[in-house]
Amino acid sequence: MRACRREPVPHTPVWFMRQAGRSLPEYRKAREGIPMLDSCFMPELVAEITMQPVRRYGVDAAVFFSDIVTPLKAIGLDLEIKPGVGPVIAEPVRAAADLDRLRAPEPDELAPIAAAVRLLTAELGATPLIGFGGAPFTLASYLIEGGPSKGFEHTKAMMYGDPQLFTALLDRVADITSTFLLTQIDAGASAIQLFDSWVGSVAPVDYRQYVQPASAKVFAAVADRGVPRIHFGVGTGELLRDLGEAGADVVGVDWRVPLHEAERRVGPGKALQGNLDPATLFAPPAALDAAVQRVLDDAARLPGHVFNLGHGVPPNADPGQLARVVDYVHENTVRS
Ligand code: CP3
Repeated sequence: MRACRREPVPHTPVWFMRQAGRSLPEYRKAREGIPMLDSCFMPELVAEITMQPVRRYGVDAAVFFSDIVTPLKAIGLDLEIKPGVGPVIAEPVRAAADLDRLRAPEPDELAPIAAAVRLLTAELGATPLIGFGGAPFTLASYLIEGGPSKGFEHTKAMMYGDPQLFTALLDRVADITSTFLLTQIDAGASAIQLFDSWVGSVAPVDYRQYVQPASAKVFAAVADRGVPRIHFGVGTGELLRDLGEAGADVVGVDWRVPLHEAERRVGPGKALQGNLDPATLFAPPAALDAAVQRVLDDAARLPGHVFNLGHGVPPNADPGQLARVVDYVHENTVRS
């Protein structure tokens, strides 16, 4: 939390996006036979899975085990997460009438989320819990495409062809995600991360016109809670300043832009998070160490740095390599 606020820290803190999940044998065992989105509504299981990487690695934060589409499931949309594919939505949103199916969840629909957060904050003690949600563009892209996409053709066809519908959709999704985040914060989460994983596909001029207002609405909705707000997307080198200006305190950076250059692009007053290339986890230990050291060198002059990967932990990553990264960062960033 101190690094997010750009205050002095005893050592650089480290956590990993997708630190809970298929790379851990204890996760695969806990999830056996339980569909992903069912598991997200089982508080004891959510708490156990969230704790697994904290116990194993001694990371400096837990990240809530859930999914960006969890609040869509909570309001009764027909959707599932297909293993190896991602979220699949039975009836995509393509017309104004489809907006009627989208509304912010009621408190009782998110009660299992709040219960899981309360279990976790009790168990975690001083270790912060990072809550999260999907940003309007990324969530809307799943809703419009009906599933994962490479080119986002339907999404962009709507953005350019019916901008009024597109912005109305993102505005609704902003309310859904805001409710999901507020539920986590009010149950005890110490920080939140807004994932705009796929927004790197949008040109900056279009981002500012069609996307940023909805992301800004989410950040504004949680502003009075006073918790650090992290914002992250993949391939966002050209968008770093705009992402920060949407209202984040911390900008997550993928591995394509070195952190000293990211700081220049983001501008003053924000902490940075990142940005080890996840593929380095598959390199020999000495090469991995060198890559971690390079990220630390790039961040040496930043007032606030939270070490992370440049995207999520790959499902086939070796947990031993992740443990090595945590220890390396802790041992080599001790402030005197
Ligand atoms: O980081 C963590 O440890 C918390 C858990 C977390 C999950 N999803 C669990 C999950 C987080 C932060 C997410 C967010 C999420 N979900 C994002 C944004 C983060 C990112 O990676 O950019 C996105 C785009 C999604 C949508 C989604 N859900 C995808 C693309 C997938 C993978 C599908 C696959 O099988 O390859 C999921 C499923 C998912 N979410 C899993 C986990 C652990 C895998 C489920 C399984 O075990 O089968």
